[in-house]
Amino acid sequence: MRIAMIGGGYVGLVSGACFAALGATVVIVEADEHRFNALRDGRIPIYEPGLEELVSIHRAAGRLHFVNTIDEAVDGVDAVFLAVGTPSRRGDGHADLSYVFDAVDQLAGALTGPAILVTKSTVPVGTGARIATMMASLRPDLAIEVASNPEFLREGSAISDFMRPDRVVIGANGACARAVLSALYQPLTQQGVTLLFTGLETAELIKYAANSFLAMKISFINEMADLCEKLGADVTQLAHGMGLDHRIGAQFLHAGPGFGGSCFPKDTQALVRIAQDAGAPTRLVETVVAVNEARKAAMTGRVIAACGGSVRGRRIAVLGLTFKPDTDDMRDAPAIGIIHRLVDEGAIITAYDPMGMDHARFQLPARVTFCADAQSALRGADAAVLITEWAEFRALTPADLCAALRGRTVIDLRNIFDPTAMQAAGIAYYGIGRPQPPAINQRDRRAQTPYREPRRERSLSVL
Ligand code: UGA
Repeated sequence: MRIAMIGGGYVGLVSGACFAALGATVVIVEADEHRFNALRDGRIPIYEPGLEELVSIHRAAGRLHFVNTIDEAVDGVDAVFLAVGTPSRRGDGHADLSYVFDAVDQLAGALTGPAILVTKSTVPVGTGARIATMMASLRPDLAIEVASNPEFLREGSAISDFMRPDRVVIGANGACARAVLSALYQPLTQQGVTLLFTGLETAELIKYAANSFLAMKISFINEMADLCEKLGADVTQLAHGMGLDHRIGAQFLHAGPGFGGSCFPKDTQALVRIAQDAGAPTRLVETVVAVNEARKAAMTGRVIAACGGSVRGRRIAVLGLTFKPDTDDMRDAPAIGIIHRLVDEGAIITAYDPMGMDHARFQLPARVTFCADAQSALRGADAAVLITEWAEFRALTPADLCAALRGRTVIDLRNIFDPTAMQAAGIAYYGIGRPQPPAINQRDRRAQTPYREPRRERSLSVL
């Protein structure tokens, strides 16, 4: 099979390389000159474990090609996938579809025969139908079928998510689209993966509903964490006890500083708008959006409280900046708000992240010192704050922390350290939703005041 993938960003690149690994010949179109040059020269502009090797293997095998115009990609293809960005539109939370419709417009000019257009980008419900109407008016001479094939890839484990999915969702009304997509995914269905066929609108909605449900699960456990702190309970044990119930499941019950990334914040907001516009507001998801924003903002108050009510002139080591481990992605990362506010409060920040520092530099205050490793960030600091749970931080022992830090305060926003071992080493250890040393329950008034994100931070977080 031969497919074109419009968009060589995260989704397009991972999906394109994985389709090539399933045996298809894939042409990826990347219009951005900088990114295209990088891809053409064999450089992968994002960090995703295993992706560089996968791209290089299938390029060498002649199954994966990069071009920079749609015209070069569509000749003789069985299907065209749209994997362009759909960022949150500034101001109203709706998905910005301008890249999608630009691509459709160009496709209308480039196609020479009947085609199947498949949206991989997360698009609002009804977009597939709009694309079909647009193509019918631009190219009435061609039979075009539109399908939706949402992706469920997590950054950091995207390749295994693609190769071993829980399901593949295909929303298509036409028989041709169903047949072509079934053939494309046959190597997976042969291994027992479920191919779920739905209508276009249902497939589009499944993506938003799945992400919003997972986001809701995270917000739920985060609220339980706050409750645990008040009641002297432990949220990690609570989550374990809940997750053993198969109806609930253990995943996405890790309490933390609030969800970030390019998907959950954007997709929950978009679903809220879609539902409001449709006259069926999703109160739960609206609350999840608000609860998560408040949670991210409240994290700085925890750090200030743990430091005794003020961080002015205090040196704070921040471990982990990206929105989750195994990615270099800083989009909507909780670290951005936390660090801006700590700097505003007079803290001196030394920070380290294994992969995210190149991107973080553009989003964090100029006064932040970026360090070559965790030890350098920790050395001489009054307190340490762990924001992202990279595997290498899990290896840090209480002895390592005591040897490097000047102070004895550790704020672990991901619960990766053992509280008993920390406390035994004389460290004032503040986790999330676990019994805390006194300071956190006697927060100063400022720490309890809802924090309003500074203006510049909002604009940074949507970059
Ligand atoms: C998410 C979904 O998990 C994917 O299925 C989906 O395809 C993707 O969005 C997308 O729409 O493209 P991703 O954003 O890469 O994937 O990462 P997640 O692992 O879902 O984490 C999202 C955020 O939730 C991170 O900030 C993470 O730290 C946080 N999280 C996750 C928690 O705080 N607790 C958890 O238990 C799980």
